[in-house]
Order: sequence, then C-alpha cells, then structure tokens
Amino acid sequence: MKVCGLSWRRLVQCLLTGLLTAGVLYCFLYFHFSRHPHSYPTSHLDLQASTSLPISPHAVTWSGAGHDVTERATSEGMQHLREFQSAAHHYWRKLQDLLVARNRAKFPSVSYWNCSCLWESDADNHTGNATLLTTNVTRLKTPQDYLAETQNCTRFVLHGGFKMAAVSEEELAFPLAFSLLVYKDLDQVVRLLRAVYRPHNVYCVHADRKSPDTFHSSLRHVISCLPNVMLLDTAVDVQWGRYSVLKPEILCLRMLWQHATKWRYFINLTGQEFPLKTNKELVQILTAFRGANDIRGTQHPRFSGRWKKNLPAPYNLTVSKGAVHIVASRAFADYVLHSRVARDLLTWATQVRFPEEIFFSTLNHNPHLGVPGSYTGDIADPFKETFHRFKLWNTTGFPHVQPCAGRWVRGICHFGVHDVTRMTRSPRLFANKFSYDLQPLAYDCLEEWYWHKVQLEDSGRPPPLNVSLYEESNIVKFRYQGPVLIWQ
Ligand SMILES: *[C@@H]1O[C@H](CO)[C@@H](O)[C@H](O)[C@H]1NC(C)=O
Ligand SMILES: *[C@@H]1O[C@H](CO)[C@@H](O)[C@H](O)[C@H]1NC(C)=O
Ligand SMILES: *[C@@H]1O[C@H](CO)[C@@H](O)[C@H](O)[C@H]1NC(C)=O
Ligand SMILES: *[C@@H]1O[C@H](CO)[C@@H](O)[C@H](O)[C@H]1NC(C)=O
Ligand SMILES: *[C@@H]1O[C@H](CO)[C@@H](O)[C@H](O)[C@H]1NC(C)=O
Ligand SMILES: *[C@@H]1O[C@H](CO)[C@@H](O)[C@H](O)[C@H]1NC(C)=O
Ligand SMILES: *[C@@H]1O[C@H](CO)[C@@H](O)[C@H](O)[C@H]1NC(C)=O
Ligand SMILES: *[C@@H]1O[C@H](CO)[C@@H](O)[C@H](O)[C@H]1NC(C)=O
Ligand SMILES: *[C@@H]1O[C@H](CO)[C@@H](O)[C@H](O)[C@H]1NC(C)=O
Repeated sequence: MKVCGLSWRRLVQCLLTGLLTAGVLYCFLYFHFSRHPHSYPTSHLDLQASTSLPISPHAVTWSGAGHDVTERATSEGMQHLREFQSAAHHYWRKLQDLLVARNRAKFPSVSYWNCSCLWESDADNHTGNATLLTTNVTRLKTPQDYLAETQNCTRFVLHGGFKMAAVSEEELAFPLAFSLLVYKDLDQVVRLLRAVYRPHNVYCVHADRKSPDTFHSSLRHVISCLPNVMLLDTAVDVQWGRYSVLKPEILCLRMLWQHATKWRYFINLTGQEFPLKTNKELVQILTAFRGANDIRGTQHPRFSGRWKKNLPAPYNLTVSKGAVHIVASRAFADYVLHSRVARDLLTWATQVRFPEEIFFSTLNHNPHLGVPGSYTGDIADPFKETFHRFKLWNTTGFPHVQPCAGRWVRGICHFGVHDVTRMTRSPRLFANKFSYDLQPLAYDCLEEWYWHKVQLEDSGRPPPLNVSLYEESNIVKFRYQGPVLIWQ
C-alpha cells in the first residue's frame, strides 16, 4: 500500500523522483505531439498500470497520517506537490486528446431484461418473475478480474466504459470533487466510480484498513489508470460511530483542496450508492444552489445525549446532528479546512459519539459564524428539504416510513427492483443503499437508466430537468451570502 511511507525524507525523495519522471515524460510527449499533432501512436501511450504512468497518484498521496488533526504539510512539501500536480496536469491534457480521438466506450446495459419499463412504471407485470429478481444474472467482476483488466490501462479505460470525451463546456467550467469511502464489493465500487467519473473532476478514494489485500491492490490498480483519481494512502481503520469515520473524510477533503483543479462543490459517497443525476445535471443543480450547502441538521433533544457531557462546544456553538452525506461548496470546504473555529470544533468532536454526523452539520447551522453557504433559516422548519440522498429509513421516531421493496437492514432500506421507479422520478442526487446480491436487477437497471440519460445528453437530446425546485428550496433561499464573520 504505502509507496512513500510516512517519513518526510522518503516522501520528498519520492516526490522528486516522480517529478523527474513526469517531467521527462512530459517533454517527450510535448515534443512528440507538437511534431505530430495528428498521430496518436498507441504503443507509446499504453498506460501500463505500473510503468508508463509516472504520475501515478500514489506518488503524490497525502501523508497526513498522524493523530494530530491539525497537521499541515510544510510549504516546501506543498510546493513539490503543486509542481508535481502541474506536470501531471499537462500529461493528462495530452492523454485527453488521445482519448477524445478514440473514445469507443460502450455504455453498460442489461441484456437479460428490458429495463425501460421499470424506469417508467412500477407495474407488477414487469417484475413478477421472482427467479429473475434474485438470481445473479450478471456475473460480478472479482478483484482478480480487475487486476487482469488493468494490466493495460488504455484498454481498461477505453473499453471499460469510463467517459473520457464529450464533456460539455458547462461541465468543464464547473468541476466537482468527490470523496469515496469504500471497504467491500469492488465491482460496485468501480461501477459507481465509472458513473461519476469525468476526466476534469477530482476524486479521492479511501479504502478501509480492514479490507482484504486483494481489494486494496485491485483498487489501487484501477485508480492508477485514472490520473484524476487519488487514493488516500493512509488506510484508516474505520469504526462505526467513531472519529475514524470522519478522519479519512477530512484527509480526503484536504487532498482534494491541494489539487490544482479549482473544483466548485464537494460531494462525498460510499461504495454502496449510485447517482440519480448525471454530471451535467449535477452541474445544473449545483449551479442553482448558488453557493448553498446541502447538509442536514437537527437540534432535537433526542440526540443530545451523544454530546451532552462534552458541552460546551468551542465558541459555545449550538451543536446539531446531520446525516453522513454532504454536498458542500468550495468556500465551505475552505472554512472547514482552514478556520480556527473548524479546527477547534474538530478537536472537540473527536471526543463525542458519531462526530461525522455532528461536525459539518454544526458548522452549517450556526449562522452567527458566517460560514459560506450555511443555513440561516429555522432548523426545525419542516420545509427545509435536502437533496443529497434518496434513502429510506425505518427507525424509531421516523414519522413517515416509505415501503422498501428490498430489505431493511439496521433501519435502512437496501433497495429492491420495485424501488427503482421512485428513484428515477426523485429530485434527489444519489440513491443509498444497494446490496447488489439482494436484487441485482435493481442496480443493473438503475445503472442502465443512468447511462441512457448520458447517451441522450451526448446526442444533444438531454432529458428535461426543471431546476426551479432546487432554486426555490429553503436551503438556497436561506443560505448565508455575506462575508465570514468568525474565522479565528
Ligand atoms: C422495451 O420496452 C419499451 C417500452 O416498454 C419498448 O419501447 C422497447 O422497444 C423495448 N425494448 C426492447 C429491446 O424490446
Ligand atoms: C402490464 O400488463 C398489462 C396486462 O398484461 C398490459 O396491458 C400493460 O401494457 C403492461 N404494462 C406495460 C408497461 O407493458
Ligand atoms: C423467469 O426468468 C428466468 C430467467 O430468465 C427464466 O428461466 C424463467 O423461465 C422465467 N419464468 C417465468 C415464469 O417467466
Ligand atoms: C450472488 O453471488 C454472490 C457471489 O458473487 C453470492 O454471495 C450471493 O449469495 C449470490 N446471490 C444469489 C441470490 O444467488
Ligand atoms: C493495450 O490496449 C490497446 C487498446 O486496446 C491496444 O491497442 C494495445 O496494443 C494494448 N497494449 C498492449 C501492450 O497489449
Ligand atoms: C452558551 O450558550 C448557551 C445556550 O445557547 C447560553 O445559555 C449560555 O449563556 C452561553 N454561554 C456563554 C458563555 O456565552
Ligand atoms: C461525508 O461527510 C460527512 C461530513 O463530514 C461525514 O460525516 C461522512 O462520514 C462522510 N460520508 C461519507 C460517505 O464519506
Ligand atoms: C418498519 O419496520 C417495522 C419493524 O421492523 C415493520 O413492522 C414495518 O412494516 C416497517 N415499515 C415498512 C413501511 O416497511
Ligand atoms: C418547473 O417546476 C416549477 C415548480 O417547481 C413549475 O412552477 C414550473 O412551471 C416548471 N417549469 C417548467 C418549464 O416546467
């Protein structure tokens, strides 16, 4: 796993070696392409996972490993990182040209079932075949399969369905940053990554330390084929309800912040979800957010037991509890990473239970701080809708439980086939959660629906999207727009 280890000397050595290699390759590519602008010889550009990709993200992974959450890199280290990323960026642009010229990606579709009925209506006659619902019709790819496929990155990227070309100007002008916290089901992880992947966005992936070695090594190979996807080198042992859930998130956010791409919004995902909106739609929706964050929050006393004994919180902040999913603006991320308030709150939050549900939510619901994009309205307002997830709950105190066609696991619906129609009609951005084995058709058909929309977009006939629902939402209406009020 560890390419650079944790010591500074090794990291710097490693970065320098990487820089040199990237520089040499860049020069080669530069001269090669400037002399032969229209020839794209494949042999030089086969992105072999281990050899010809000098900008393997592992060489630039962030080593902020220690327990000190406020740890920062030295400016020298950051300078190296920036230069390195810049070289990587140039290389990537050249690669792009190559791929654009030869994009032959086949979009995923289901051969054993006509999914389009399911997208449109949930009538029983479509899915009455119980055998079909539960059998494994599609063979899942194993970590070994991915290890073999990624031996030739060019083929993996081109034939694996990763969308390399035809990204609209609108999307290019609005890059997104994603973090993915994953620990199992590699095939689902790669299919999720493939769906959200666009060449101009940035991605940070964290794999749980407890995951098997085969999972780690295959994932690393997949990622090394995709230069704008970075693997967090610090594999944290993620324990439910503990700071270890939040830690990789912060490390990822920091790594994404250091990236040369000036992304506009941050979205975090787990391996078991799937997008309901294409990248183009996400861009339209997030543009309509106009800087607002989509972060849940409640100050219901029911939850206060989790932090009561640790009160007061720093700056006497009102603590609120959110969900484990967030969609946050770049300015919010800046506040989270660099303000003293956030730093002190994070140190405090490590002591409480479920800090991952408290930290971001609290920053988003203390309007006197003036956190960019935060919520200034009434937190108890029942019309304060959030859009980040289509997720069904059935736990005590949850008022309106919707039916789950799959199975309830610890109060969360693992989707079944009959849930798909509701998802395709939902204004939410991502669906959580899928256990592929439960009813493979649910995932397969949703995936086909997603790629079908992408195809429509590519052919200039995008499905209609009415963003007024987002524009008129309370999180947007009551977003904080002024200057930051308390930073120190
Ligand atoms: C699938 O069903 C839709 C409508 O229900 C129909 O228009 C389409 O032709 C069908 N596709 C195939 C391949 O049978
Ligand atoms: C469902 O079955 C009914 C009766 O068999 C049929 O009339 C209807 O067209 C079917 N629905 C679709 C969308 O195919
Ligand atoms: C259900 O689907 C399976 C797999 O496609 C098929 O073998 C079986 O004949 C179908 N059963 C019915 C009743 O349609
Ligand atoms: C599907 O295959 C997986 C292994 O790939 C297995 O664990 C699971 O039990 C299978 N599910 C069904 C319903 O057969
Ligand atoms: C890698 O795949 C590409 C595209 O399929 C192919 O042209 C090339 O020959 C392959 N390279 C190697 C070394 O097999
Ligand atoms: C902290 O906040 C609580 C409740 O909001 C308030 O009662 C208390 O006076 C505040 N303490 C200080 C020192 O401001
Ligand atoms: C997303 O970010 C929130 C806020 O920090 C965090 O609590 C949560 O663990 C993250 N969730 C995922 C799935 O990464
Ligand atoms: C919610 O869970 C309870 C207890 O497990 C169950 O009885 C109830 O049917 C579930 N509600 C729905 C809508 O599935
Ligand atoms: C968009 O939705 C809003 C309600 O959310 C509605 O008033 C408006 O007419 C819709 N616009 C279009 C073009 O459909």
